[in-house]
Amino acid sequence: MMKDRLLEILKPYGQEHLLAFWDRLGPDQQRSLARQIEAVDFLQLARWFEGRNRQADVRRLAERAAAPPGFRLDAAKNPFTAEQARRRAVEELCAGRLAAVVVAGGQGTRLGFEHPKGMFPIGPISKKTLFQIHIEKIIAAARRYGAAIPLYVMTSPATHDETIAFFDAHGRFGLPSDQLVVFCQGTMPVLDAETGRVLLDAPDRLAVSPDGHGGMLAAFERSGALADVRRRGIRHLFYFQVDNPLVDICGQEFVGYHLLAGSEFSTQVIAKRDPLERVGNVVEVDGRSMVIEYSDLPDDCARRRNPDGSLAIWAGSIAVHVMDVELVARRAEGVEGLPFHIARKKATYVDAAGRRVEPTSPNAIKFERFIFDLMPEANNAVVVEVDPSRAFAPLKNASGASEDTPEAVRRQMAALARDWLRQVGAEVGDRTVVEISPLFALDAEQLAARVPRGTRIAEPSYFG
Ligand code: UD1
Repeated sequence: MMKDRLLEILKPYGQEHLLAFWDRLGPDQQRSLARQIEAVDFLQLARWFEGRNRQADVRRLAERAAAPPGFRLDAAKNPFTAEQARRRAVEELCAGRLAAVVVAGGQGTRLGFEHPKGMFPIGPISKKTLFQIHIEKIIAAARRYGAAIPLYVMTSPATHDETIAFFDAHGRFGLPSDQLVVFCQGTMPVLDAETGRVLLDAPDRLAVSPDGHGGMLAAFERSGALADVRRRGIRHLFYFQVDNPLVDICGQEFVGYHLLAGSEFSTQVIAKRDPLERVGNVVEVDGRSMVIEYSDLPDDCARRRNPDGSLAIWAGSIAVHVMDVELVARRAEGVEGLPFHIARKKATYVDAAGRRVEPTSPNAIKFERFIFDLMPEANNAVVVEVDPSRAFAPLKNASGASEDTPEAVRRQMAALARDWLRQVGAEVGDRTVVEISPLFALDAEQLAARVPRGTRIAEPSYFG
């Protein structure tokens, strides 16, 4: 009997409650539930649940943490110049050895937007969506270097179908169909935080949540994307999050420093303005670079200062990385995936009486992998400092929050556009809203060829 077989799997781990509604399910529902149960590694789940309170290790690491190697904005101590970096990057870009990967599996809960975040209209004038802006940057970069830059979009079960339909409805915003690959990340069961039991989302369905952006490694391999990049002769992946419209996709300096340093994993950082800023902290411990997430870093460690008053843990990751395909392949094909991090969150579930429960405080444990856990395994990993006003405007929160709102992001996009216009000799008022399409210019250098010096801009203007 199918039920007995499942009970044998579940009993050793105290998970028999998953069959509480079995006798009421139809044959299809039973088969579906059986498939879900058989796919779970209950032994591994039990181990992770046991270890859920092991936070002390992070403190030990943080206490020994030193500044990571890399390139600062103040270039005095950098081993290579920005000019050398740009030249090296252009060679690799013209040879078609880069692809872009955007992670877009998050559900945007904090933003309060009912669709995949990439569909959020963010252009200050054009109202272009995040997806369109990213794709136009890729199209413009591919034109600039005369070589394709394929885009790999990672979705999750919650965002997959809608994302594909959106790209189809808009002709992929001009990206040729063979240059766009959409792949879906995996999920992990959600546990009750008290008991470690897997929660039911419905009588015939386990509660699951996306396995974190680190799920990209396994999903990249499983979906055939890894084989696809190899077939195309791509060696480096430019990785970014869907929420940052300022990201300089395949930007020359960043890519160039990565190549010149012989790095397998490089990450963009900003000098943290506040010790408790909500960004990952890149540090070096025992000769290996790694990221300690803001939520894991004890406050006193975050506040530690150097004798000159600067923050000891200064480098905040903005989650823009270049990683080598070989590193990704090594890890994706290995038996062990990246470690799981534990997050306590709210999750709706069906209780023993079959009632749907909407908890008001965190009741569940979710498991997530983080892509930056690849960093300690990379050879010659480096950080590259960028100016946050030019490179980082993450859309995280709904209007009305104190930061990272749609309004704040649009203001920053317009401020950067004004800055470029002034660099090329245009006059633009401090409050004038301007937007530059990536297809018009990717940077001030390209803009100079299109906007005559002395141009006056007094009205809201879109350059497209
Ligand atoms: C993240 C980083 C943080 C960084 C900050 C910069 C983590 C754990 N933290 O914080 O170090 O400083 O961004 O903005 O990464 N995503 C998936 N699948 C998932 C989960 C997330 O694709 O299962 C994607 C989201 O769509 C989004 C990105 O990963 O593009 C980041 O997720 P988010 O929850 O916004 O991370 P933060 O906590 O803001």
